[in-house]
Amino acid sequence: MLEPLISSERLQIRIDELAKEIQRDYGDRVILLVSILKGSVYFLTDLSLRLGPAVELDFMAVSSYHGEDQSTGIVQILKDLDTNIEGRDVLIVEDIVDTGLTLNHLRELLAVRRPASLKIACLLSKRAAKAIQTSVDYVGFEIPDAFVVGYGLDYGERFRNLPDISILRHV
Ligand code: IMP
Ligand code: MG
Repeated sequence: MLEPLISSERLQIRIDELAKEIQRDYGDRVILLVSILKGSVYFLTDLSLRLGPAVELDFMAVSSYHGEDQSTGIVQILKDLDTNIEGRDVLIVEDIVDTGLTLNHLRELLAVRRPASLKIACLLSKRAAKAIQTSVDYVGFEIPDAFVVGYGLDYGERFRNLPDISILRHV
């Protein structure tokens, strides 16, 4: 059962604002957007379409959930970047911060590769999010501490393709 939380219209408006903020901050520097598969692909698409020509894309897959709805704390690289990020302006594009474990780990992992800069854009942040919340540079929406799906976010690989974000109610 799905309870609507953020409509596709609100998503687009907010992503437009984020893109403007990012463009202001980076000026004409080339941004390497690092999308964390698979949850961030819709966000990556809509964000990058608004960022103009000075953008490159790369993808990374990590696993921290193992199909359940709770973080295990173990982050495993399933697919690494194709790009050497040394000296690059890297912006990690992620779907959601819950405990912050995934992003914390990713940040450490990429920082040792010596990028010129390393920032994080995250579409959603759970209000209860603890460890990392303050270190996310661009946050789309603060949401309640509920399990959400749609616009890339899944439950057991389902619901990613829904245009709105909804709260998944277990019945
Ligand atoms: P964290 O490590 O606890 O911050 O979890 C972050 C990762 O867990 C995200 O990249 C998502 O893949 C997944 N996740 C956390 N909360 C949700 C949710 O409400 N819906 C879908 N996936 C979630
Ligand atoms: Mg994810």
